[in-house]
Amino acid sequence: MKFFIDTANIDEVRSANDLGILAGVTTNPSLVAKEGVSFHDRLKEITSEVDGSVSAEVIAEDAEGMIKEGKELAAIAPNITVKVPMTLEGLKAVKAFSDLNIKTNVTLVFNANQALLAARAGASYVSPFLGRLDDIGHDGMDLIATISQIFDRHGIETEIIAASIRHPLHVIDAAANGAHIATIPYKVLGQLVKHPLTDQGIEKFLSDWNKQK
Ligand code: E4P
Repeated sequence: MKFFIDTANIDEVRSANDLGILAGVTTNPSLVAKEGVSFHDRLKEITSEVDGSVSAEVIAEDAEGMIKEGKELAAIAPNITVKVPMTLEGLKAVKAFSDLNIKTNVTLVFNANQALLAARAGASYVSPFLGRLDDIGHDGMDLIATISQIFDRHGIETEIIAASIRHPLHVIDAAANGAHIATIPYKVLGQLVKHPLTDQGIEKFLSDWNKQK
């Protein structure tokens, strides 16, 4: 499983990229709005830092509008992936982008039928939202496992991005259940690294080393 970071904050992107594990970035309108910057300018900054896929979401609700917006976003850099919401209009737009060889990430996926439809329309990625399903008492991880099983069984190459990740256990379980990618908030990325026994081990090694002097 690969790691994407889920943020529109350029400092977070840079610092995650410095770790050498970053395969891509996802943004959404809420994350961009929090930054208070021009969306296009921020996408230019992010795509110049990161080689992997950078998802940029369209705002239009009709296919025609999505296609127009998506083409403008895709023109910013070759590694832009157009993020499209999982609607009937979204599916039409995904098909059009696929015909144009523009990569797409179908977002706000909450059941396996939506994922299968998105894949068949030509989506490069589908994004099931784990945390938001857990929030309403459903099992987000079951959805990852089901989509993974269906895609494997039918030889579908669309990649599954485990999204709406809230904590480290989501990341481990997403990997075990077949997600190709987890898109992770910066805070959770930091939590993945930490273990109290690692910290204690370093402290002990250093104190033993210093005793010999
Ligand atoms: C994914 O692409 C979305 O940007 C994101 O994971 C949504 O997460 P949230 O439910 O924490 O807003």
